[in-house]
Amino acid sequence: MNASEGFPKVVWAAGTFCRRMFEVLARAGLARIGRLGTAHGPVETPALLPVVNASSLILTPQEMVEEFRAPILMTNAYILWRGEDRERVLKEGVHGLLGFPGPIMTDSGAFQQHVYGKVEVSNEDIVKFQAAIGADLGAALDVFSEPDESRSHAEAGVEETLRRSEEALQHRGKMALAGTVQGGRFADLRTRSAEGLSRLPLQIQAIGGVVPLMEAYRFAELAEVLVASRMGLRPDRPIHLFGAGHPIVFGLAVLLGCDLFDSAAYAKYAYDGRMMTAWGTRRVRDLKRLACACPVCRDSTPEALRRNPSLVARHNLHVSFQEVQQIKQAIEEGRLWEHVERRSRAHPRLLEVLRVLERHVDYLERFEPLSDGSPFFTGPETIWRPVFHRFRKRVLERYRPPGAKAALILPEGPRPYTRGYRRVLRELFTQADAHAIVKSAFGPVPVELDGVYPVAQSVFPALPGVEVLEAAEAFLQAFLRKGHFEFGLLWEGAESLEELKRRAPGSASGGEDLHRARAIADYQFGPEASDALFRGDVEFVTSKRTHRIRNVLVDKVHVLSLRASDGLYTLKWAGGQRIHRSVEMPRLRVVVETETAPFNRQGRSVFAKFVTDADPDLRPGEEVLVVDQEDGLVAVGRALMNREEMLAFDVGPAVKVREGSD
Ligand code: GUN
Ligand code: ZN
Repeated sequence: MNASEGFPKVVWAAGTFCRRMFEVLARAGLARIGRLGTAHGPVETPALLPVVNASSLILTPQEMVEEFRAPILMTNAYILWRGEDRERVLKEGVHGLLGFPGPIMTDSGAFQQHVYGKVEVSNEDIVKFQAAIGADLGAALDVFSEPDESRSHAEAGVEETLRRSEEALQHRGKMALAGTVQGGRFADLRTRSAEGLSRLPLQIQAIGGVVPLMEAYRFAELAEVLVASRMGLRPDRPIHLFGAGHPIVFGLAVLLGCDLFDSAAYAKYAYDGRMMTAWGTRRVRDLKRLACACPVCRDSTPEALRRNPSLVARHNLHVSFQEVQQIKQAIEEGRLWEHVERRSRAHPRLLEVLRVLERHVDYLERFEPLSDGSPFFTGPETIWRPVFHRFRKRVLERYRPPGAKAALILPEGPRPYTRGYRRVLRELFTQADAHAIVKSAFGPVPVELDGVYPVAQSVFPALPGVEVLEAAEAFLQAFLRKGHFEFGLLWEGAESLEELKRRAPGSASGGEDLHRARAIADYQFGPEASDALFRGDVEFVTSKRTHRIRNVLVDKVHVLSLRASDGLYTLKWAGGQRIHRSVEMPRLRVVVETETAPFNRQGRSVFAKFVTDADPDLRPGEEVLVVDQEDGLVAVGRALMNREEMLAFDVGPAVKVREGSD
């Protein structure tokens, strides 16, 4: 796929008019690469914050800088407040005490107080203390809820945490303040807690109360908690996950929208003689070899690691940072789902996470770009990824067949299907009143959609396994129940064609350019807009070499261009006008404040700040009409966010305008 034609990776450009606290630079679903501004410099997210405990340093802050290039640290303000260093840290500041030049986040000690059982410090005091020692980011004192606590307990904790978050805002000074989502294992409480935080003018939103879930490998519940929390959180603020210790869960956390996570696990595991990898944990005492290329293992031996926990801690931290880098690269490549699926195979408890994601696919699909990367199959769960779910849904809801009597169901074959099955299709269309549907692993594909993302871009094995085949059968049956065809017949070789000629005599027209062009528009814009686009005298400009459609002209005017990268259309101004005349508000629209519309008429991008509403069915990457508040057509362009994000964000472009009215 050509990167310049694919989904644009730069979503919210960095600091155009003033220094911003948080900007999103690239995204993949809920995951994003961002830039968090602090008084001690910017931090790129997702970021891992190694926890340092000033009173028991297994790795020094200097090592964090020199060996690990740690961009940001976490330390516990409660431990400093309670300890011998209280006066010193008040005098020297937390940066002075730790000798760390970059940004530092402090935690309020909610977790320690929960573990040790008594509350010694008030919310007000610990927040003032964090501000006084110069923390860049700090946390209000939340009430930690255990996952197995009763509902009424968890509910009371949520209420008290919200009250304290609000109170803490008065004492934060210049420090960016985090409020924390609690609510135990109760999804509705988590969402409510998150919604409460979204209403407060906090700079950071944290998710807490998950350490016991992670320690007990209750990953499915962790995923439920992350989804339920994310549903209530504002998308324009960074999300911190408290205590996301093991790199095995980093990918999942990022996939579900977390931007920051702190980990003390690298040290805790080391004291306990456990070595981390991105796919599990090994006891140092069982090691016969060091199968790791980190600078520690490269120059060490299992024996040395057994004697020296600080070597193990260093290894653990190298592995943790490496996983963060791999996650960022996966976001850039549109491969984060694949990454998380692969990681999930590391432990059966993690594999259960994929079933949780499957249950929430409707929610996750709302954030999924229209097209991004080449989806690779990693296992039967792959077919439930948002991109495939969307494909099935749009085929079910938007596809209109060419009006043939029968459907010939072809097995998965070489792609693009219209080339791979060229001979069969030619005979089919000329000799029978039948249309061809490929029974792909992720759902039925009408042959004319064979170039549309993700059909042409995805890579599946020839034998995907029984579970996938059963699902494919169920998807096909759901499609056939739509009643587009009188009957369906499975392709079993030449005799199938004979049977079709007998049972559905005549010919069909499903292979023509016009039908293909319309089917893609149905899929992308919906039938109503598609009818508006194609009303009149249709001509195509085709590629001389491949004979594929490039441009669509209607009544001699260029209305659509077909992208080679994802097989979907780019909307021209004339196409936008056609849709605008025939399709009602708010469909396919992004509404901007009438006063700012003149900028967009000149071709400038729509900034999220000026969006007043948008079609809830629009996805990032989708072609849109930009209209003013009176529904006057202003421009056509490409959405960079969904509606929820456009309405939440105050920074960055929401629509990249391609053609304005002027
Ligand atoms: N560290 C680990 N879990 C938590 C939590 O729930 N709240 C806070 N403040 N810190 C934590
Ligand atoms: Zn190592």
